[in-house]
Amino acid sequence: MDLSVIVPTFNEGPNVAELVRRTTDAMAGRVVEVIFVDDSTDDTPDVIRAVARTASIPVRLIHRNDPVGGLGGAVVEGIKAAASDRCVVMDGDLQHPPEVIADLYARAEQGDVDVVVASRYVAGGTSDGLANAVRTAVSRASTLLTKAMFPRKLHNCSDPMTGFFLVDRRALDIDTLQPRGFKILLEILARTQLRVAEVPFSFAARFAGESKASFSQGMRFLLQLTMLRFGRMSAFALVGGLGALANLAIMWALQMVGVQYIVAAVIASVVTIVANFLALEYLVFADMRAESGLMRHRFIKSFTFNGIEAIVRIPVIWVLVSQAHIQSVLAAALTLIAAFVVRFVFHALVVYAPKKSRVGKAVRAIEPLEDEVTA
Ligand code: GDD
Ligand code: MN
Repeated sequence: MDLSVIVPTFNEGPNVAELVRRTTDAMAGRVVEVIFVDDSTDDTPDVIRAVARTASIPVRLIHRNDPVGGLGGAVVEGIKAAASDRCVVMDGDLQHPPEVIADLYARAEQGDVDVVVASRYVAGGTSDGLANAVRTAVSRASTLLTKAMFPRKLHNCSDPMTGFFLVDRRALDIDTLQPRGFKILLEILARTQLRVAEVPFSFAARFAGESKASFSQGMRFLLQLTMLRFGRMSAFALVGGLGALANLAIMWALQMVGVQYIVAAVIASVVTIVANFLALEYLVFADMRAESGLMRHRFIKSFTFNGIEAIVRIPVIWVLVSQAHIQSVLAAALTLIAAFVVRFVFHALVVYAPKKSRVGKAVRAIEPLEDEVTA
């Protein structure tokens, strides 16, 4: 078996035959199976059995009466049952064009990665099939936030929210996965440091049936994210929170000795920006410093960001105080909270981004040594 294609399905009957037909054509010349892991409440299992009888490739059905873990749980079950170590995970509604399986497979065959992601957000990919502008915006924003929370593990992945990817089962510790809801790729990538490559694809419109995405899936995703990454984000929040308190205390103290509130806000900001940077360097991102270039470059980026933030924040404080008549320290507090999320995303993705060339150089220097040792 060259490849197992795992398709989680929930009431996708009208899509089954078309999916199997296109998968068969796309992988002609290879030995491929399709495994439907089905939690349907309608006649989808019967449809799958009927298609299996006439298909020219093996089509298997795992029907779960107890749908543990929803979509993600189904995927894990499929990976465990697969006949091949190479598994493609793909939606059952043809929003993931089966023709792209051939691209995923070809990339995996190069043998240098554990996961190949079909990405909407890499050059050549599109997300036009997302139902509407709101979903597009939600998808973009949650992708950014997720990448900020796992800057290193997701460094080579532009689309951690996609449900379309190839994974080599041998690189996974399947039993440590705790699938919750829809985002199984995120679960896989966040647990282990895997080697990731991407191929572009165009996210299509649904072939038939209705989407199962919902507000509660969105909430489950946020929970998953928080659980996976309580570490860095909470440390960042703590440092930021203490910094904000220090900022407000300094501002208050300066006003007590008669300094005008705008001047006080400027001084308080400069002091906390520097202290905050040092805390990030030595506490929050300590493990990422080595790979992310020179400290003074990081400081310039961080200082510039915070400077711009302060420059934007102070007129906003002025508006809140003079127009909305909010008390000045409270106004400053409101703007600090709003700035927090943006600051975290910027630091994780820009300031502490691994320098590609450096890592690449190191890897290239080590590889020949490795070869010699193995020889
Ligand atoms: N077995 C099983 N159990 N399958 C499920 C369940 C479940 O509880 N819920 C949904 N599925 C199946 C659907 O039948 C479909 O094949 C696939 O999972 C994706 O569900 P959709 O209803 O099509 O959701 P979507 O299009 O909003 O979400 C997909 O697109 C996202 C990208 O925006 C998912 O693939 C996400 O993983 C992907 O990130
Ligand atoms: Mn879909």
